Amino acid sequence: MSRDLIERKALLLLPHIPLLVVSQGAEAIIFQTSVHPYLPQLTSSDSIYIIKYRPSKPYRHPILDKQITKHRTLNESKLLLKLLSLSNSNDIINDGAVLTPSLIATDIPNGLIWLQFVGHFLNDPDGVNQKNFNNISSLKNYLWSIEKKIPLHIHSNLKEDDIISQSLEKSIISINYKIKNLLTLIGIEIANLHIFDICHGDLTSSNIILQKNSNYILKGINIDIENDTDTDGYLPYLIDFGLSFQSNLIEDKAVDLYLLEKAIISTHPLFANNYYNVWLLNGYKTGYQLKSKKLNNKSYINQHKTIIKRLDLVRLRGRKKSMIG
Ligand SMILES: Nc1ncnc2c1ncn2[C@@H]1O[C@H](COP(=O)(O)OP(=O)(O)OP(=O)(O)O)[C@@H](O)[C@H]1O
Ligand SMILES: *[C@@H]1O[C@H](CO)[C@@H](O)[C@H](O)[C@H]1NC(C)=O
Ligand SMILES: *[C@@H]1O[C@H](CO)[C@@H](O)[C@H](O)[C@H]1NC(C)=O
Ligand SMILES: *[C@@H]1O[C@H](CO)[C@@H](O)[C@H](O)[C@H]1NC(C)=O
Ligand SMILES: *[C@@H]1O[C@H](CO)[C@@H](O)[C@H](O)[C@H]1NC(C)=O
Repeated sequence: MSRDLIERKALLLLPHIPLLVVSQGAEAIIFQTSVHPYLPQLTSSDSIYIIKYRPSKPYRHPILDKQITKHRTLNESKLLLKLLSLSNSNDIINDGAVLTPSLIATDIPNGLIWLQFVGHFLNDPDGVNQKNFNNISSLKNYLWSIEKKIPLHIHSNLKEDDIISQSLEKSIISINYKIKNLLTLIGIEIANLHIFDICHGDLTSSNIILQKNSNYILKGINIDIENDTDTDGYLPYLIDFGLSFQSNLIEDKAVDLYLLEKAIISTHPLFANNYYNVWLLNGYKTGYQLKSKKLNNKSYINQHKTIIKRLDLVRLRGRKKSMIG
């Protein structure tokens, strides 16, 4: 189905709402709009809301098609609501929450979800002129923008499979202590997600958006976040729960982690070891430790160990598969 046709369908469902295409994936099209669906006082020329639209697919049987659209839209909305209901304190990550955009409205049969916009545009910190989603403050874009500043001699000394040497690691850390803290927080959030038996299903560095936010207090987390500026004032938000599902299986959680590992290796090959194996997985462990401490229940520590063991198996399987082709 052509993008024109999809846009026309969306315009019929959302008359008088200005729509700008942000991205078109296989399953959904994302629009931005300045109009709040039901609170006119929140509509202004510089407000941004996100509308995720799953159009009907002409190649699917119409009844089946309606069911699929309904289920996916309902699933994503329900998950977002569930996750939002967890973030009711001001020390939310430490208290087990997962940061996500708020759900503003949803139209299940028509496949529409309105979301809070999170992040800002990296080339335009004030967010006024250039609203270019290619430059959204996703983890990927943020890391790329910092990687560009790493001195060339460090880049040229790295090879893809390098375990980064201690001295190189030191220089990277000194540039990037904020990255370390951010990745630790992301690891904690993914642990929180898994502790609630939810698998994201599509974790990538584009599906994590960094939002400037100094209202949250980060305390009690056993990493060197001394103050907000230690993450550049950013907190990581997870987006795109279209493939998420409820599961308490160790295998599903390990695969969830493995997909992110592969995504990070392909988008940040030189630093993947630090980003993922060291910092993010340390955060993941911290998430389980915090839960264990809070509930005085060692079973969370054991769960974490089991998942990491399984992750090794999933990696082996992945390597075999890629060797066979
Ligand atoms: N709440 C939001 N705030 C800011 N940007 C968003 C938000 N939701 C989506 N986006 C932007 O739209 C893009 C696509 O969104 P999302 O991943 O939810 O849709 P999708 O169709 O499932 O995408 P894909 O098929 O590419 O995975 C994101 O990468 C991001 O740039
Ligand atoms: C919706 O969620 C349910 C329960 O988690 C799951 O069984 C089902 O496969 C999901 N459906 C879709 C279309 O994702
Ligand atoms: C994104 O921002 C960078 C500066 O941070 C700029 O050089 C680049 O042109 C921008 N890209 C787009 C697509 O706007
Ligand atoms: C806050 O973090 C900055 C990091 O640049 C550091 O210089 C400063 O000393 C910290 N402040 C406190 C009170 O810890
Ligand atoms: C510890 O947590 C697990 C679930 O993670 C639960 O099954 C078990 O009953 C808990 N144990 C105690 C003593 O509360």
